[in-house]
Amino acid sequence: MEKFSTEVAIDLQPSPKRLNKKINIFLNDVLEGLQSSPKYLDSKYFYDKRGDELFQKIMASNDYYLTNAEMEILTNQKAEIADAVLTDTNKLDVIEFGAGDATKSIHLLKELNEKKAIANYFPIDISENIINLLNKNIPAAIPGLSIHGLNGEYFDMLAKANQISKNKKLVLFLGANIGNFKFDAMPAFCKKLRNQLSDGDMALIGFDLKKDPKKILAAYDDSEGFTSQFNLNLLRRINNELNANFNLGNFEHYAMYDPDSGACKSYLVSMKEQKVCIDETPINFEKDETIFMEISHKYSVSQIDEIAVQCGFKPVKHFFDKKKYFVDVIWESTRFR
Ligand code: AVI
Repeated sequence: MEKFSTEVAIDLQPSPKRLNKKINIFLNDVLEGLQSSPKYLDSKYFYDKRGDELFQKIMASNDYYLTNAEMEILTNQKAEIADAVLTDTNKLDVIEFGAGDATKSIHLLKELNEKKAIANYFPIDISENIINLLNKNIPAAIPGLSIHGLNGEYFDMLAKANQISKNKKLVLFLGANIGNFKFDAMPAFCKKLRNQLSDGDMALIGFDLKKDPKKILAAYDDSEGFTSQFNLNLLRRINNELNANFNLGNFEHYAMYDPDSGACKSYLVSMKEQKVCIDETPINFEKDETIFMEISHKYSVSQIDEIAVQCGFKPVKHFFDKKKYFVDVIWESTRFR
């Protein structure tokens, strides 16, 4: 899921005319979601400065098992992953979607660099700040690695990387971000990825697996309340950036997991009948009315393999953590789509 960067959020000016383009898009998206029935907000807007901090707290919490599980895979199995992606003697370009601070991918990058198997690293992130940090920090951590940070949308930046270099590509999409696409949007995303790759290019994608439903639910309803704060923070962001007057105390976080579909969904529930104004547009809430906030889809291994084939990839290898909570899969772009 691509995040909407806070670094570019502009001070709110009360007059709509003075809102910049990004704020206008944010406002339109929020009004569209809250004027729909049922109401929803787009989870890509979670990540302002406070949202980033809360997400760090979620990732470090005991209940949110995903981060440790994937970190275990990338630290313990980096050599095997490198072997699986190095199918010939040609050097690879590694492209990372939503690179963040690269704390997980750095293990694989080091491994590939030690094997002299990486030509370029293209981290892609919507946050300019993150790209600047990576351009500075990665050369210090991996001397000699050629890095070209790309700031923008995933597919626009992948096209740019394709123009810069014709090497064989390995696209990293870690962190179960793929789970934040709605069910139909996920294969569409994978097909789009396939269409921008050449035959033989590869992807390493992190999926959270179906497991004990109680374990999954606890990750999205953590005992320390970080996920609740994370969801409520979007209302605070709307107040701050879109001149709204949500009373955060009037909403409660609710998470549910459906083990059949694998959909883990979070909502904010209105605790009373209330009216909220967003940049002078009134939005009415009934008591117990919900705002759908986010989906975090869980998959089975067979579902993941089926989607790979359906989207023009061959599933090459699965790397699991010891508890089999999480899988990083290697897909290879096939000739037949
Ligand atoms: C970013 N993404 C993979 C997280 C997830 O698990 O869906 C976002 C998140 N939302 C609540 N907790 C974590």
